[in-house]
Amino acid sequence: MEELQQTVSQQDQLRETTQQTQAGETTQQTQAGETTQQTQAGETTQQTQANTPDAQPSHDNQAAEPLIRIENLRKSFGDLEVLKDINFEVMPGEVVSIIGASGSGKSTLLRCINLLEVPDSGHVWFHGSDLAGERTNVNELRESIGMVFQSFNLFNNKNVLDNCTLAPVTLKKCSKAEAEERGRRHLTAVGLADFIDAPATSLSGGQKQRVAIARALCMEPEIMLFDEPTSALDPEIVGEVLNVMRDLAAEGMTMVVVTHEMEFARSVSDRVVFMDAGVIAEQGSPEDIFGNPREPRTREFLARYLGE
Ligand SMILES: Nc1ncnc2c1ncn2[C@@H]1O[C@H](COP(=O)(O)OP(=O)(O)O)[C@@H](O)[C@H]1O
Ligand SMILES: [Mg+2]
Repeated sequence: MEELQQTVSQQDQLRETTQQTQAGETTQQTQAGETTQQTQAGETTQQTQANTPDAQPSHDNQAAEPLIRIENLRKSFGDLEVLKDINFEVMPGEVVSIIGASGSGKSTLLRCINLLEVPDSGHVWFHGSDLAGERTNVNELRESIGMVFQSFNLFNNKNVLDNCTLAPVTLKKCSKAEAEERGRRHLTAVGLADFIDAPATSLSGGQKQRVAIARALCMEPEIMLFDEPTSALDPEIVGEVLNVMRDLAAEGMTMVVVTHEMEFARSVSDRVVFMDAGVIAEQGSPEDIFGNPREPRTREFLARYLGE
């Protein structure tokens, strides 16, 4: 089973992550008092604000703490530096779209947020914990961060509801009855009430992706990451998935969406981030990025998507 293997290999990757983190961060572990960590977090916060005055998100809730704060993140694959000193944050309830050419590092950035990739250096703060710098409970983290991939990754030998209940039951150990209630609720919300008992294989691509979204929501995540969720879909069914995401955003879910759907990015996002060659080249409100981009490379990129 391809999906099972994928899941297993993800778990291996995560296990490695934990081991590497443990190995690399002996000093911090020894310091490990909560007070020390809070002090470090506070200092870092001040530095970031001082150093990047115009990189702050245009979000109503300025006083709140970011849900995700990424600082000086670097990641290379061999000689290829894919993320070059990324600073990035996501406020609670914020919807951030990440746009940029293929290969610019969008997926790698997203995967660093839930530890599917291990950063080479830098910090990924989630709720005040540095995921890159201390012993992290990976399972707990992954319960709080939902991820939807381009390729659905459903369990094809299971029906729709079982796809949704498997993780909550096995990972979170909630009762089967509660997991099924959640599953029915989220499947109904994504318009799949009539398909609850259907085999996963019988669904269209758009339906499969809606199951994948419902499945992620069944873990009751605090943030949802989407990596080009509609790129594998036929154009006529892209809309049904985007509508589900639109609803989710309207309900207040915190979302980071890597997408080439510019109209979606423009109309749903609080903030748009343009990545180019491993850096955040520009970010701002959808109005600014689409209506009045400052950087020539942003204009060039958008001209390719919007100009014709
Ligand atoms: N696991 C990996 N091993 C080697 N190279 C990788 C790996 N993942 C991504 N890359 C490379 O890193 C670069 C950025 O990839 P990615 O983050 O997937 O970009 P994007 O999502 O913007 O298309 C690409 O050149 C890609 O080939
Ligand atoms: Mg990608």
